[in-house]
Amino acid sequence: MTDEARLADFEARIARGEKIEPGDWMPERYRSQLIRLIQQHANSELMGALPEGQWIPYAPGFKRKMALIAKVQDEVGHAQLLYRAAETLGKPRHEMIEELINGSSKYSNVFNYPCDTWADIAMVGWLIDGAAIVNQTIMQTGSYGPYGRALRRITYEEAFHLKQGYDLVVTLITGTSAQRAMCQEAFSRWWWPTMMFFGPPDKQSVHTEVLQRWGIKPKTNDEQRQIWLQKFVPKILELGLEIPDTALRRDAESGEWHITQPDWNEFFRVINGDGPMNRERLALRRLIYDEGSWLRRALEPHLALPKAA
Ligand SMILES: [Fe+2]
Ligand SMILES: [Fe+2]
Repeated sequence: MTDEARLADFEARIARGEKIEPGDWMPERYRSQLIRLIQQHANSELMGALPEGQWIPYAPGFKRKMALIAKVQDEVGHAQLLYRAAETLGKPRHEMIEELINGSSKYSNVFNYPCDTWADIAMVGWLIDGAAIVNQTIMQTGSYGPYGRALRRITYEEAFHLKQGYDLVVTLITGTSAQRAMCQEAFSRWWWPTMMFFGPPDKQSVHTEVLQRWGIKPKTNDEQRQIWLQKFVPKILELGLEIPDTALRRDAESGEWHITQPDWNEFFRVINGDGPMNRERLALRRLIYDEGSWLRRALEPHLALPKAA
Protein backbone atom coordinates (compact mmCIF):
# COMPACT_ATOMS: atom_id res chain seq x y z
CA MET A 1 0.00 0.00 0.00
CA THR A 2 1.36 3.44 -0.89
CA ASP A 3 1.41 6.25 1.68
CA GLU A 4 -1.33 8.07 -0.29
CA ALA A 5 -3.55 4.99 -0.13
CA ARG A 6 -2.85 4.59 3.59
CA LEU A 7 -3.70 8.24 4.19
CA ALA A 8 -6.93 7.95 2.19
CA ASP A 9 -7.88 4.85 4.19
CA PHE A 10 -7.02 6.59 7.47
CA GLU A 11 -9.10 9.66 6.60
CA ALA A 12 -12.02 7.48 5.47
CA ARG A 13 -11.97 5.69 8.82
CA ILE A 14 -12.10 9.01 10.66
CA ALA A 15 -14.92 10.21 8.41
CA ARG A 16 -16.89 7.07 9.31
CA GLY A 17 -16.43 7.91 13.00
CA GLU A 18 -14.07 4.99 13.69
CA LYS A 19 -11.47 5.32 16.43
CA ILE A 20 -7.77 5.14 15.66
CA GLU A 21 -5.93 2.71 17.97
CA PRO A 22 -2.23 2.57 18.98
CA GLY A 23 -1.11 -0.13 16.50
CA ASP A 24 -2.91 1.44 13.53
CA TRP A 25 -1.14 3.29 10.73
CA MET A 26 -1.29 7.07 11.24
CA PRO A 27 0.39 10.06 9.60
CA GLU A 28 3.45 11.22 11.55
CA ARG A 29 1.85 14.65 11.95
CA TYR A 30 -1.23 13.07 13.54
CA ARG A 31 1.04 11.27 16.01
CA SER A 32 3.13 14.34 16.84
CA GLN A 33 0.11 16.65 17.24
CA LEU A 34 -1.60 14.14 19.52
CA ILE A 35 1.52 13.68 21.64
CA ARG A 36 1.90 17.47 21.97
CA LEU A 37 -1.74 17.88 22.94
CA ILE A 38 -2.05 14.95 25.37
CA GLN A 39 1.31 15.72 26.95
CA GLN A 40 0.29 19.35 27.55
CA HIS A 41 -2.99 18.16 28.98
CA ALA A 42 -1.22 15.71 31.32
CA ASN A 43 1.20 18.46 32.39
CA SER A 44 -1.73 20.73 33.16
CA GLU A 45 -3.37 18.16 35.44
CA LEU A 46 -0.09 17.69 37.30
CA MET A 47 0.67 21.42 37.60
CA GLY A 48 -2.95 22.17 38.52
CA ALA A 49 -2.52 20.07 41.64
CA LEU A 50 0.08 22.53 42.99
CA PRO A 51 -1.90 25.71 43.78
CA GLU A 52 -4.78 23.68 45.24
CA GLY A 53 -2.46 21.30 47.07
CA GLN A 54 -0.82 24.25 48.79
CA TRP A 55 -4.20 25.28 50.20
CA ILE A 56 -4.93 21.90 51.83
CA PRO A 57 -3.41 22.88 55.23
CA TYR A 58 -5.53 26.06 55.29
CA ALA A 59 -8.88 24.63 54.18
CA PRO A 60 -11.60 25.97 56.51
CA GLY A 61 -12.82 22.87 58.34
CA PHE A 62 -12.62 19.11 58.09
CA LYS A 63 -15.15 18.58 55.28
CA ARG A 64 -13.63 21.24 53.03
CA LYS A 65 -10.22 19.70 53.62
CA MET A 66 -11.46 16.19 52.75
CA ALA A 67 -13.04 17.43 49.52
CA LEU A 68 -9.94 19.36 48.49
CA ILE A 69 -7.61 16.44 49.24
CA ALA A 70 -9.84 14.18 47.13
CA LYS A 71 -9.82 16.69 44.27
CA VAL A 72 -6.05 17.16 44.30
CA GLN A 73 -5.58 13.39 44.35
CA ASP A 74 -7.94 13.09 41.36
CA GLU A 75 -5.94 15.67 39.38
CA VAL A 76 -2.69 13.77 39.89
CA GLY A 77 -4.53 10.61 38.82
CA HIS A 78 -5.71 12.42 35.66
CA ALA A 79 -2.10 13.25 34.85
CA GLN A 80 -1.19 9.58 35.27
CA LEU A 81 -4.00 8.44 32.92
CA LEU A 82 -3.05 11.01 30.30
CA TYR A 83 0.70 10.31 30.36
CA ARG A 84 -0.24 6.66 29.83
CA ALA A 85 -2.45 7.62 26.87
CA ALA A 86 0.43 9.65 25.37
CA GLU A 87 2.80 6.71 25.93
CA THR A 88 0.66 4.59 23.58
CA LEU A 89 1.96 6.89 20.81
CA GLY A 90 5.56 5.95 21.57
CA LYS A 91 6.91 8.66 23.88
CA PRO A 92 8.14 7.44 27.28
CA ARG A 93 6.69 9.08 30.37
CA HIS A 94 10.03 10.02 31.94
CA GLU A 95 10.83 12.03 28.82
CA MET A 96 7.57 13.94 29.15
CA ILE A 97 8.15 14.68 32.84
CA GLU A 98 11.68 15.87 32.07
CA GLU A 99 10.38 18.17 29.32
CA LEU A 100 7.85 19.60 31.78
CA ILE A 101 10.41 20.41 34.44
CA ASN A 102 12.98 21.81 32.01
CA GLY A 103 10.29 24.09 30.59
CA SER A 104 10.28 22.76 27.02
CA SER A 105 6.75 21.32 27.17
CA LYS A 106 3.83 23.62 28.03
CA TYR A 107 0.89 23.42 30.40
CA SER A 108 -2.25 25.49 30.83
CA ASN A 109 -1.61 29.16 31.57
CA VAL A 110 -4.23 29.24 34.31
CA PHE A 111 -1.81 27.44 36.63
CA ASN A 112 0.66 30.30 36.36
CA TYR A 113 -1.61 32.70 38.23
CA PRO A 114 -1.57 33.15 42.01
CA CYS A 115 -4.12 31.65 44.41
CA ASP A 116 -3.80 34.17 47.23
CA THR A 117 -7.13 33.61 48.98
CA TRP A 118 -9.52 30.76 49.73
CA ALA A 119 -11.88 32.31 47.17
CA ASP A 120 -9.27 31.55 44.48
CA ILE A 121 -9.73 27.86 45.28
CA ALA A 122 -13.47 28.35 44.80
CA MET A 123 -12.86 30.03 41.42
CA VAL A 124 -10.45 27.36 40.20
CA GLY A 125 -12.93 24.62 41.15
CA TRP A 126 -15.87 26.37 39.55
CA LEU A 127 -14.62 28.39 36.56
CA ILE A 128 -11.55 26.38 35.57
CA ASP A 129 -12.88 22.89 36.23
CA GLY A 130 -16.05 24.05 34.46
CA ALA A 131 -13.96 25.10 31.46
CA ALA A 132 -12.04 21.81 31.61
CA ILE A 133 -15.33 19.89 31.47
CA VAL A 134 -16.44 21.80 28.35
CA ASN A 135 -13.09 21.05 26.69
CA GLN A 136 -12.83 17.41 27.77
CA THR A 137 -16.42 16.54 26.90
CA ILE A 138 -15.69 17.69 23.36
CA MET A 139 -12.23 16.13 23.13
CA GLN A 140 -13.47 12.72 24.30
CA THR A 141 -15.41 12.38 21.04
CA GLY A 142 -12.14 12.81 19.11
CA SER A 143 -10.60 10.24 16.79
CA TYR A 144 -7.86 8.73 18.98
CA GLY A 145 -9.27 5.84 21.06
CA PRO A 146 -6.99 5.85 24.15
CA TYR A 147 -7.31 9.63 24.67
CA GLY A 148 -11.11 9.55 24.37
CA ARG A 149 -11.40 6.68 26.85
CA ALA A 150 -9.11 8.37 29.38
CA LEU A 151 -11.15 11.56 29.08
CA ARG A 152 -14.44 9.80 29.67
CA ARG A 153 -13.15 8.60 33.02
CA ILE A 154 -11.65 11.98 33.83
CA THR A 155 -14.77 14.06 33.10
CA TYR A 156 -16.73 11.85 35.46
CA GLU A 157 -14.46 13.05 38.28
CA GLU A 158 -14.37 16.64 37.01
CA ALA A 159 -18.13 16.79 37.58
CA PHE A 160 -17.45 16.36 41.32
CA HIS A 161 -14.77 19.09 41.18
CA LEU A 162 -17.24 21.47 39.59
CA LYS A 163 -19.80 20.77 42.32
CA GLN A 164 -17.31 21.40 45.09
CA GLY A 165 -16.19 24.64 43.39
CA TYR A 166 -19.77 25.84 42.94
CA ASP A 167 -20.61 24.97 46.55
CA LEU A 168 -17.61 27.02 47.73
CA VAL A 169 -18.69 30.00 45.61
CA VAL A 170 -22.28 29.84 46.87
CA THR A 171 -21.07 29.65 50.49
CA LEU A 172 -18.86 32.71 50.04
CA ILE A 173 -21.33 34.81 48.05
CA THR A 174 -24.13 34.18 50.56
CA GLY A 175 -21.80 34.72 53.55
CA THR A 176 -20.59 37.81 55.39
CA SER A 177 -19.80 41.03 53.55
CA ALA A 178 -16.07 40.20 53.84
CA GLN A 179 -16.67 36.79 52.24
CA ARG A 180 -18.73 38.34 49.43
CA ALA A 181 -16.01 40.92 48.77
CA MET A 182 -13.33 38.21 48.70
CA CYS A 183 -15.45 36.18 46.29
CA GLN A 184 -16.01 39.12 43.93
CA GLU A 185 -12.34 40.13 44.03
CA ALA A 186 -11.18 36.62 43.13
CA PHE A 187 -13.87 36.31 40.43
CA SER A 188 -12.78 39.58 38.77
CA ARG A 189 -9.16 38.36 38.64
CA TRP A 190 -10.08 34.92 37.28
CA TRP A 191 -12.43 36.18 34.56
CA TRP A 192 -9.63 37.05 32.10
CA PRO A 193 -7.50 33.90 32.52
CA THR A 194 -10.74 31.92 32.09
CA MET A 195 -11.44 33.76 28.81
CA MET A 196 -7.94 32.76 27.69
CA PHE A 197 -8.36 29.11 28.78
CA PHE A 198 -9.63 27.86 25.42
CA GLY A 199 -6.74 29.45 23.53
CA PRO A 200 -6.44 32.27 20.99
CA PRO A 201 -9.29 33.13 18.59
CA ASP A 202 -9.60 30.66 15.70
CA LYS A 203 -8.18 33.06 13.15
CA GLN A 204 -4.94 33.25 15.20
CA SER A 205 -4.70 29.57 16.05
CA VAL A 206 -1.95 27.75 14.15
CA HIS A 207 -2.94 24.17 14.97
CA THR A 208 -6.73 24.24 14.51
CA GLU A 209 -6.91 23.28 10.82
CA VAL A 210 -5.02 19.97 11.08
CA LEU A 211 -6.56 19.11 14.46
CA GLN A 212 -10.04 19.46 12.95
CA ARG A 213 -9.27 17.65 9.70
CA TRP A 214 -8.22 14.51 11.56
CA GLY A 215 -10.92 14.69 14.18
CA ILE A 216 -8.55 15.31 17.08
CA LYS A 217 -10.36 18.46 18.14
CA PRO A 218 -14.02 18.35 17.16
CA LYS A 219 -14.73 21.99 18.13
CA THR A 220 -12.59 25.12 17.75
CA ASN A 221 -11.30 27.42 20.51
CA ASP A 222 -14.00 30.04 19.82
CA GLU A 223 -16.76 27.42 19.71
CA GLN A 224 -15.61 25.99 23.06
CA ARG A 225 -15.39 29.47 24.62
CA GLN A 226 -18.94 30.19 23.44
CA ILE A 227 -20.27 26.96 25.01
CA TRP A 228 -18.67 27.96 28.32
CA LEU A 229 -20.19 31.45 28.15
CA GLN A 230 -23.65 30.06 27.39
CA LYS A 231 -23.40 27.78 30.40
CA PHE A 232 -21.73 30.09 32.90
CA VAL A 233 -22.81 33.70 32.29
CA PRO A 234 -26.44 33.12 33.38
CA LYS A 235 -25.21 31.40 36.58
CA ILE A 236 -22.72 34.19 37.30
CA LEU A 237 -25.45 36.82 36.95
CA GLU A 238 -27.87 34.77 39.02
CA LEU A 239 -25.34 34.71 41.89
CA GLY A 240 -25.01 38.50 41.69
CA LEU A 241 -21.35 38.50 40.72
CA GLU A 242 -20.18 41.42 38.66
CA ILE A 243 -18.41 40.52 35.39
CA PRO A 244 -15.41 42.80 34.78
CA ASP A 245 -16.16 43.02 31.04
CA THR A 246 -18.43 46.05 30.61
CA ALA A 247 -18.87 45.33 26.89
CA LEU A 248 -20.21 41.81 27.46
CA ARG A 249 -23.57 41.37 25.70
CA ARG A 250 -25.78 38.66 24.31
CA ASP A 251 -26.86 38.83 20.70
CA ALA A 252 -30.66 38.52 20.82
CA GLU A 253 -30.90 36.78 17.46
CA SER A 254 -28.07 34.23 17.61
CA GLY A 255 -28.00 33.92 21.40
CA GLU A 256 -24.20 34.27 21.27
CA TRP A 257 -22.21 36.17 23.87
CA HIS A 258 -19.88 38.88 22.65
CA ILE A 259 -16.88 39.55 24.86
CA THR A 260 -14.01 41.99 25.05
CA GLN A 261 -10.98 39.99 23.92
CA PRO A 262 -8.56 39.32 26.77
CA ASP A 263 -4.98 40.54 26.42
CA TRP A 264 -3.56 37.93 24.03
CA ASN A 265 -0.08 39.41 24.40
CA GLU A 266 -0.28 38.46 28.06
CA PHE A 267 -1.40 34.95 27.01
CA PHE A 268 1.70 34.46 24.83
CA ARG A 269 3.96 36.00 27.48
CA VAL A 270 2.67 33.57 30.13
CA ILE A 271 2.85 30.53 27.85
CA ASN A 272 6.46 31.43 27.06
CA GLY A 273 7.38 31.34 30.73
CA ASP A 274 6.89 34.90 31.92
CA GLY A 275 3.67 34.76 33.95
CA PRO A 276 3.21 35.76 37.59
CA MET A 277 3.85 32.25 38.93
CA ASN A 278 5.71 30.31 36.18
CA ARG A 279 9.08 30.21 37.91
CA GLU A 280 7.72 29.42 41.35
CA ARG A 281 5.41 26.63 40.20
CA LEU A 282 8.05 24.97 38.01
CA ALA A 283 10.62 25.23 40.81
CA LEU A 284 8.20 23.44 43.12
CA ARG A 285 7.57 20.70 40.53
CA ARG A 286 11.34 20.31 40.11
CA LEU A 287 11.83 20.06 43.87
CA ILE A 288 9.16 17.32 44.11
CA TYR A 289 10.86 15.46 41.24
CA ASP A 290 14.26 15.66 42.93
CA GLU A 291 12.85 14.57 46.27
CA GLY A 292 11.35 11.50 44.59
CA SER A 293 14.61 10.43 42.97
CA TRP A 294 15.49 8.01 45.82
CA LEU A 295 12.31 6.08 45.09
CA ARG A 296 12.99 5.90 41.35
CA ARG A 297 16.53 4.71 42.15
CA ALA A 298 15.20 2.03 44.51
CA LEU A 299 12.68 0.77 41.95
CA GLU A 300 15.03 0.89 38.97
CA PRO A 301 16.47 -2.66 39.18
CA HIS A 302 13.03 -4.20 39.75
CA LEU A 303 10.88 -2.41 37.19
CA ALA A 304 13.33 -1.72 34.38
CA LEU A 305 12.68 1.99 34.81
CA PRO A 306 14.82 4.50 32.94
CA LYS A 307 17.94 5.45 34.86
CA ALA A 308 17.06 7.94 37.61
CA ALA A 309 18.92 11.24 37.68
FE1 LIG B 1 -8.51 17.07 36.13
FE1 LIG C 1 -10.54 18.90 38.07
